[in-house]
Amino acid sequence: MNTILETRGLTKVYRADGVATPALRGVDFAVGRGEFVSIMGPSGCGKSTLLYLMGLLATPTDGTVILAGTDTRGVSDGERTRLRRAHIGFVFQRFNLLPTLSAQDNVALPRRLRGMAVGDAPREMLRAVGLEDKRRRRPNQLSVGEQQRVAIARALVTRPAVLLADEPTGNLDSTSSGRVMDLVSRLHAESGQAVVLVSHNEQVAARAHRLVRMCDGRLITE
Ligand SMILES: Nc1ncnc2c1ncn2[C@@H]1O[C@H](COP(=O)(O)OP(=O)(O)O)[C@@H](O)[C@H]1O
Ligand SMILES: [Mg+2]
Repeated sequence: MNTILETRGLTKVYRADGVATPALRGVDFAVGRGEFVSIMGPSGCGKSTLLYLMGLLATPTDGTVILAGTDTRGVSDGERTRLRRAHIGFVFQRFNLLPTLSAQDNVALPRRLRGMAVGDAPREMLRAVGLEDKRRRRPNQLSVGEQQRVAIARALVTRPAVLLADEPTGNLDSTSSGRVMDLVSRLHAESGQAVVLVSHNEQVAARAHRLVRMCDGRLITE
């Protein structure tokens, strides 16, 4: 396997109010370039923590994340941000779109942040997710399913090697959920980007080529 993202002995203990909560207990996990893998498991088993650590949005208590050949253990915050922006796109259950910006301006933002030329890329991504005609609308003028499609366009507009999606259909009814998953599958097939999708819905997770289960901070199958 040509690995794009790998974790070794990944461990995370949260400490709050004098209480230590072990969320990850030594996870070894590898994602190949272009692979589509789902992570399933009950609430609280560490799925979001694993995704955040893989996306360099948080730091582990122990172990390491290797992204595009770079071992990120001990690298500076600036370098982590640079690596994340170069290689990772994120989609969350809550879309985190900026409410005052149009769909198109929301999608343009990651390219602006990276100093990339904006050009037609946001409009083309919105066309790919079936929302070109609604590109001037603000988030509150779109349905929740449409907002999630905008969030996917925003995550992919920089052509990241890895898309990390945390329960992207968690707020959607089954019709919108099916549409969003059709979209993720199609964009994955067209782009060759790796997709790591967290879900506790069997139907959603079954879209992936490989299914990994988590329980109590550990992977139980790979
Ligand atoms: N910021 C935090 N502070 C303290 N505990 C946390 C924090 N985030 C998550 N946890 C705890 O870590 C464990 C794993 O959480 P999480 O990764 O969100 O699981 P999942 O996404 O599978 O529901 C849970 O016990 C949760 O309560
Ligand atoms: Mg979660």
